[in-house]
Amino acid sequence: MRIALIYFSGVGSTKHIISSMANYLRELDISTEKIPVDRYGKLPLNCDAYIFGTPVYHGEPAKPVLSFIQQLSKLDEAKPALVFSSYGLCKGFTNRHLAEILYDKNLKTVMNSGYRSPASDGTLFLQNVKRFFSFEKNVEDHIKKDIDNFVDLVNNESTLYSKPRITIGAVLNMPNAYFGGKTKLKIRLHEDKCIKCNLCVKNCPVKAITMDERGYPCINREDCLNCYRCIHKCPKLALSLGKKEILKVIK
Ligand SMILES: Cc1cc2nc3c(=O)[nH]c(=O)nc-3n(C[C@H](O)[C@H](O)[C@H](O)COP(=O)(O)O)c2cc1C
Ligand code: SF4
Ligand code: SF4
Repeated sequence: MRIALIYFSGVGSTKHIISSMANYLRELDISTEKIPVDRYGKLPLNCDAYIFGTPVYHGEPAKPVLSFIQQLSKLDEAKPALVFSSYGLCKGFTNRHLAEILYDKNLKTVMNSGYRSPASDGTLFLQNVKRFFSFEKNVEDHIKKDIDNFVDLVNNESTLYSKPRITIGAVLNMPNAYFGGKTKLKIRLHEDKCIKCNLCVKNCPVKAITMDERGYPCINREDCLNCYRCIHKCPKLALSLGKKEILKVIK
């Protein structure tokens, strides 16, 4: 059996989950292929099943995952998919909307899941909420259980579409998702801290950062996804949302 794991990770939590899944699949003697959508654009067609992972951004999947799926051609034959989200508080409509667009490509979501993860937005505003800095308890066990269930479904050749349900949490989260999705917060540079190392430029998944004529990073807000990878990856805490520098970053 061969399973492709397709994902976007702004700051690293989704990537961590994907790595745990891939490691466990290899323990089960299943071969894997990891596809970070901001680096590779192609879906391997020789796989028996597919896993799609995304962070939740304002109750929805991250745009790079949506763009990756939208440009796919419809598969000739239906294949099973597991969709999952990594989220800080509430998955919103993420899995449901991911499953809907995958369905049109003949990728049938047979199960979906979610893992509470460090909140890449919350940690920048609410530094004293400990919960925002960690994964859910026993996340590795949760991942293994999901993989066992998914592998069983694939072995049984299931392509029975199981549409992720609308939850009360997703409905309650709608105003936050609506207003949050419309707001683009400004990322500030603290020039006194910046060492002009270029790491933020290299790390930006959509190439929204360039160096200005003085060698300082300059963010094109039109292109910026607000994934906050640049803030979390900066080795000198020289980027922040508010006027204050951030205290901690997710490693
Ligand atoms: C712009 C932005 C919006 C977010 N919106 C939500 C949200 O609506 N619900 C939620 O539970 N988490 C939200 N989060 C938190 C992320 O979904 C969570 O931290 C996720 O694990 C990040 O994954 P990553 O480290 O792979 O980027 C948001 C994070 C960012 C940066
Ligand atoms: S990663 Fe930080 S220190 Fe390096 S250039 Fe960017 S803002 Fe400056
Ligand atoms: S500039 Fe925007 S898109 Fe690029 S890493 Fe920073 S927050 Fe993400």
